[in-house]
Order: sequence, then C-alpha cells, then structure tokens
Amino acid sequence: CGIVGYVGPQNALDVVLEGLRRLEYRGYDSAGVAVRVDGPDGGELAAAKKAGKLANLEKLLADEPLPESTIGIGHTRWATHGGPTDRNAHPHLSADGRVAVVHNGIIENFAALRAELEDAGIEMRSETDTEVVAHLMTAVYAGLPESPGRLAEAMRLVSGRLEGAFTLVVTHADEPDTLVASRRNSPLVVGIGDGEYFLGSDVAAFIAHTREARELGQDQVVEIDRTRGLTVTDFAGSVVEPVAYTVDWDAAAAEKGGHDWFMLKEIAEQPQAIADTLLGRLGEDGELILDEVRLSDQELRDIDKIFVVSCGTSFHAGLIAKYAIEHWTRIPVEVEVASEFRYRDPVLDRSTLVVVISQSGETMDTLMALRHAKEQKARVLAICNVNGSTIPRESDAVLYTHAGPEVAVASTKSFLAQIVACYLVGLFLAQVRGIKYADEVAAIVAELQKLPGAVEQVLTHMEPVRELGRSLADADTILFLGRHVGFPVALEGALKLKELAYIHAEGFAAGELKHGPIAVIDQGTPVVVIVPSPRSRESVHGKVVSNIQEVRARGARTIVIAEEGDDDVVPYADHLIRVPRTPTLLAPVVTTVPLQILACEIADTRGFDVDQPRNLAKSVTVE
Ligand code: G6P
Repeated sequence: CGIVGYVGPQNALDVVLEGLRRLEYRGYDSAGVAVRVDGPDGGELAAAKKAGKLANLEKLLADEPLPESTIGIGHTRWATHGGPTDRNAHPHLSADGRVAVVHNGIIENFAALRAELEDAGIEMRSETDTEVVAHLMTAVYAGLPESPGRLAEAMRLVSGRLEGAFTLVVTHADEPDTLVASRRNSPLVVGIGDGEYFLGSDVAAFIAHTREARELGQDQVVEIDRTRGLTVTDFAGSVVEPVAYTVDWDAAAAEKGGHDWFMLKEIAEQPQAIADTLLGRLGEDGELILDEVRLSDQELRDIDKIFVVSCGTSFHAGLIAKYAIEHWTRIPVEVEVASEFRYRDPVLDRSTLVVVISQSGETMDTLMALRHAKEQKARVLAICNVNGSTIPRESDAVLYTHAGPEVAVASTKSFLAQIVACYLVGLFLAQVRGIKYADEVAAIVAELQKLPGAVEQVLTHMEPVRELGRSLADADTILFLGRHVGFPVALEGALKLKELAYIHAEGFAAGELKHGPIAVIDQGTPVVVIVPSPRSRESVHGKVVSNIQEVRARGARTIVIAEEGDDDVVPYADHLIRVPRTPTLLAPVVTTVPLQILACEIADTRGFDVDQPRNLAKSVTVE
C-alpha cells in the first residue's frame, strides 16, 4: 500500500492526491483521502474513498469536492484483509467520525482487538484489520489530558498494543495542527519542506515538493506539528534523532518522459542504470567499493557458503548470481525464494553469507528471511534500490543498485542493475579471498564497462521485436528455453509475460525439455530460445541449437535470441533477434532486454495496463 500525509500551507487534498498518484504502483485496489477542516463547532474530518484505481477517487472528488484544508492523509491500497471494496478502502474512521486512519501492513492481533472493541459495544463497519486502530485511538485519546503531544501519546499507547506490521498515519478532528504516524516492519519517511511536512511510504510521495528527508527507525512514532515541528520518539516516548538524508532522485525521474508507459521509459533507462550501478564502485586497484560494509575482510574470507534469497524478478537475479559467484569464488551458492527459505530450517552459521536482493527493500518475505539469517548468526549483504529502506538498514553490508525510481510494477531496470550488482559482489569476494582466475577477473571488469553500450545497441534494434509482439498477442501459451545463465533469463521472460499479458508462459532449462515439457508443444506454439554464445564452455551452444531443432520438429514457432555472428541458428529460427557479443556470464544483461520489450508489446496490444497489471503490487509488505 501507499501512504501520504501532509501538514502545511498548501491545499492538503492537492498534495495528498499528487502523492498518491506517485505511489499508486504500491497498490491500486482502492484509494482514499481524509482532510481536517474547521467547522462551525470546531474541527471535523471530511473523507472520500473508492474501490479501484486512483482515477475512480478523483472522479468522485470532481463530483463531490472536499473542502480546502491544510492537513490531510491519503492511501492507495493493495488488499490484504477484506476485499477491494469501497467499504474496505482507507481511511477508516472512528464511530464518531473524529479520527481517521490509513494503514499499510497487517495487524496480526486484530481479531482479539476487534472482539475487545465489540464487547465494549463498538460496531465494526469494515472487514479490515485497520478499523480497530481508529476505535482504539478514539478511546485512548479521550482518556488523556488536553496537552500538546496528546495525539502522539495516544499513537504510542495504541502502537504498543499492536502486533504485526504497520505504518499508520492518524488525523484527529480536534487537532488542527498535528498529524501523527507510527511504524513497525513497514516503511515510512518524512519530507521536510519550507514550513510544511510530508509523510510517505517512500520519497516518491513528496519528491515534487522537497528532497529533504528523515528516515524513521523501527517502532517509532512521529509527530508533525505546525508550530512545534517534527518530533520522533520510540513507543515508550523517548525522543530519538531521525537520520537525515537528501533524496538524489529528481522529480522528472518519476514521470513518464514522453513514453507511453513507465515501463518503456524504465527499459530505455537501463544503460544508465547499469552505468550508475558501476560508477565509482571499482577502485583504482580494482577493488569493489560497497556503500556500507560492516564486515571485516577476515569475515569475508571466512565465508564458506552463500545463500541468495529474494522474490519475483529479484529471485531471477539471484539465480544468475549463482553462476557468476560460484565460478569466480569457488564458494558454493544456493538460491532460494525468500518465502520458502526460513521455513525449511536452512543450515546457516557465522561463516554463511546471505545475499538478499530487493528492489524496494521492503518486501516482507525477504525481510523475514534476512531476520532469520541474522538470528542464525549468518552475515547478510543486501542488494537494494531504495536508499534507507528496511532491508539495507538491517543488513551487515549494502550495495545499492543506482537504477533510480522504478514506477512500473514489473521490474526492468532494477533487474539489470541487480544482476550487475551481483557480478560486483562475486568479483569483490574473489578479490578479498585471493583471486583464482586473476586474468579472467580483470578482463571481466573491462567487459562490465561495455554493458551500458551493449544494452543501448539492443534497444536501438527493437522495432522488429515490437512487431513480433503484436503478432503473438493471441497466443495461449508461450514457452521460454535457456541453458546455463540463459535458464534464469528464460524464467524471467516467462514471468514478465505472465505479469503483463496474463498469458500462460513457462521457462525451462532447455535440456530438461525432452524430459516432459516437450509434450505441450503443438503446431504453432511460440517457443523463445535464449542461445548462449558459441564461445561458451562445454559446447552448451551446440546443445541449445539441437534443442531448437527438436522443438521445431514438433511444430513450434521458434523465436531465437542469439549473438551477432552466430550463423548456426539461422536455419532453425522463424524469428531471429540479435544481441551483441558478450561474455557468457554477462550475457543475461543483454538477452533479457528483448524479452521485456516483447512482454510489454504483447500486453499493450491486448489492451492491458502495462504499468499496473492486475492483482500485483510493486512492493509487497505482507508475507
Ligand atoms: C513484487 C513485484 C515483483 C518483484 C517482487 C520482489 O511481487 O510485483 O515485480 O520482483 O515483488 O520485489 P523486491 O522489491 O523485493 O525486489
């Protein structure tokens, strides 16, 4: 979910709606706002909420406008408890309508709290876990003496009773100058403008207004007061100094910049994302410069096993990392989806390195895996795109991918940046531990620098891929085959297609095809094959060329992604997509790009919203 709050001289509704527009990628099952206004008998709240995308709420507000106000909150939802209806949309108001709450996360003890409130005669009006907070806030606030800081004190007392994950922002009709918020296991940042304050799930919420931000820690309450300013405390009330930082993303980076979709813009930004991720990372004598390392060289030398843990597209980056890291360091690497990792009791100890990969830095599955790893005394290194988010904050070392803000729900530029970051980690470990393949590593470092140019080259030849995409829009099933590092690329190609075009798609290890999946190939079934370089080890190239022939013999329509100059594939390719020559381990950075374009074009042709596919959210902060 996305959350926005505002206190300042501007019309709060405008600021909140603009923030929600920029946060809509976090969820779009419903949207809502509440503002505090001066009424004839003191303050009151005015709220509006609507199921569906933000546009539905904006339409409602155009017909039934809310009054001008200088304090407001807003929410864009990714449904967890309770379906995506008007009634379950946030904000949730107390029975007397004097408290409004927006919430991101899951309150795990909500059933007990709800029973307690119902016993006290309070009638629930929604199916959400959030509504209990509005009622609790009302009761606790009423029991406190009238004094500055009363709302924040109520927030602290209520937060202390909640279990689970939450970011909460609360406004009260009796508080003309104050907004409070609280967080545990769920993101919240504060923006500081000139005489105005912003709250947001991430900085995109207020980037158009200010770049001055404060990061909130775990279990903290923030009070924003028009005269007293910003106060952050822990749940017990002790004042803490929030970490200040300046956002280096510019507002334009979060706009579409002339492209039809954010995703197309982000695909086009990939050369820059790779270059920025490499920038300043390789020191003069070739050592890698991590953003934050709280691990000694000795600890890094002691590592005898690596886990890479992540979700979705970030998981595919992890699969690619395995090939590179094992090859360069000879340390065994296991890759696992975060939601499975901790539940099977993995073998971890002090000499295990767990690399967690997350674009958002907020994915709950990944965060929980990280915490499990730390409890087991493993070292954790995060690869992350969002500065100051929870996952890097809780890790022992951090390497940021400098891909810039990614708005489209389906990950593109941050994926390529993650792969590059994984290469850097592999090279770094190889170096700390004494490089076995010194010549090869030096050559790879030089090749990394060529990747932005190679991706640029792929991007300039994408028109035939778009055309191909349009011709595939009616396919029922599309299969993706790859071998070695091409296998994770096949998985990613299939995932993109499922996410965006809602077409059944599967990625397979090309060699595994004959052991079963080949049975689904029928006359005309499109099969995309990612062909490794002819220079790759162990003649894996030749084997993939044979796999293409096998599927073609069964009627498949073959779409072949192959390196320039690879003539072996020509006779078997119904469609041939060329990519520049790239060393085998680095090839995923270039071979992924046509698959992104293909999925985007197919989805667009089918008339779907490429940036906000159904049922998905960019940042999933529940397990
Ligand atoms: C969500 C998104 C995916 C993303 C995954 C992991 O499910 O829809 O596109 O790959 O989360 O996100 P992360 O921010 O941890 O990389």
